[in-house]
Amino acid sequence: MILVVDFGGQYNQLIARRVRDLNVYCEVVPYQKALAKAKEINPKGIIFTGGPNSVYEENAPKIEKEIFELGIPVLGLCYGMQLMAASLGAEVKKSDQREFGKTNFTREESSLFKNIAENSTVWMSHIDKVESLPQGFEKIGYTDNCPIAAMQNKEKNLYALQFHPEVNHSEYGKEMLKNFVFEICKQEADWTMKNYAQTAIKEIQEKVQDGKVLLALSGGVDSSVVAKLISKAIGKNLTCIFVDHGLMRKNEGDEVEAAFKDSGMNFIRVDAEKRFLEKLENVTDPERKRKIIGEEFIRVFEEEAKKIKSVDYLAQGTIYPDIIESGLGDSAVIKSHHNVGGLPDYVDFKEIIEPLRMLFKDEVRQLGRELGLADYLVDRQPFPGPGLAIRVMGEITKEKLDILRDADYIFREEIAKAGIDKDINQYFAVLTNNRTVGVMGDFRTYDYTLGLRAVKTTDFMTADWARIPYEVLDKASTRIVNEVDHINRIVYDITSKPPATIEWE
Ligand code: XMP
Repeated sequence: MILVVDFGGQYNQLIARRVRDLNVYCEVVPYQKALAKAKEINPKGIIFTGGPNSVYEENAPKIEKEIFELGIPVLGLCYGMQLMAASLGAEVKKSDQREFGKTNFTREESSLFKNIAENSTVWMSHIDKVESLPQGFEKIGYTDNCPIAAMQNKEKNLYALQFHPEVNHSEYGKEMLKNFVFEICKQEADWTMKNYAQTAIKEIQEKVQDGKVLLALSGGVDSSVVAKLISKAIGKNLTCIFVDHGLMRKNEGDEVEAAFKDSGMNFIRVDAEKRFLEKLENVTDPERKRKIIGEEFIRVFEEEAKKIKSVDYLAQGTIYPDIIESGLGDSAVIKSHHNVGGLPDYVDFKEIIEPLRMLFKDEVRQLGRELGLADYLVDRQPFPGPGLAIRVMGEITKEKLDILRDADYIFREEIAKAGIDKDINQYFAVLTNNRTVGVMGDFRTYDYTLGLRAVKTTDFMTADWARIPYEVLDKASTRIVNEVDHINRIVYDITSKPPATIEWE
């Protein structure tokens, strides 16, 4: 495997994902733990990420020199290059000219550059630069403003790039990482979701044996893949509780049921729509809606779980981005993500199992496909836990939910028909609390305004509104006002996040 050492750069997870895309397993460790981890697992190679610091700052992240003496190839990227240089006695200085963005790079001779053109575009983002070479190193590439943009010590298998090969803007970036992993580290491409599924199923069987596992299945990608994986391993000893809160999209509850009902596990669908709607009656504040739904969810789950005698394990759909510690997180707090907040306090069980905890989202989807999960579950866009409750502005009623479900369905259908569903990361309709005057036939109407929202994003922390072709918006709008009663006006949301959020509530 390859060890990715995190110095707090913004592309750290991207580096790990690029390595995984080469069918090579890798893990991200904070720099403070890198040496110990490298000694423990003896990886085939180590990659140092970038980071926001300057190596000469007093509190800048450092690395023990010993890491370069383990005989394991190391590739330093950006801050990782500067740190490698400084640790090995070379000079790193603030540059007169900051390099940021696409830059022309000229390569020289190195195994790192096998099959790569002499001149290419790379993505630069640095103020500091390596001024002189550490002993035993040679320069292997340069740009106009950076005479040492790449260096190597062939004998010790140490390599470094000032730019970011992990970013798409670096024309041959993926090839460079590939060369490092296969040509230099001699790693084999053996990380596939097929292997993963086989190993995970065996591990679950060995661990759980005749024990009972309980899972809260939401129908989202992660919990669906966990359900499928564990059911393949232990069949009826897995119980999945699907709390149908009545706030799902059109047909969604039935789709989830259809996907899991006959899969050999105990599948329990709890129809709790009435309970949830009663609790939400007259509630208009978005945060109160969230709180009520979260609490009611736990209550329903707990009631159902109590009916099952002696649960040994609680399964969760935690994935790798949820558990990666950041190199800059000196407190070393691991973000612990619970799909259903607070559950462990309410159900009596021995241990938690999280069979996806080492996988990135794309890998979870691949694994789902490998396990035979239907495309509509595997490709499902993120859907908030509180569901449509936060897409009906103000007070929630069954009637409003049904109006929204029908309109949202049409919008999604038109996006899919136009073939742009894979380019947009989240898209949905919201029912505003606003009514306006319209005219239909010869009649005056006074009905709801519907908002359409579609965003492009990679991390959901920031997002850009999607430039959907007018024709698609036109088709969706025409169909919705014609086919769904009580909507007579449609608006398209053209705000990005920030300042807006993706959801309206
Ligand atoms: P915002 O609206 O904060 O949404 O820009 C970012 C992402 O998070 C989802 N979201 C939620 N997911 N519970 C969830 O499980 C929530 O209360 C919640 N609120 C927003 C949203 O759909 C988007 O993907």
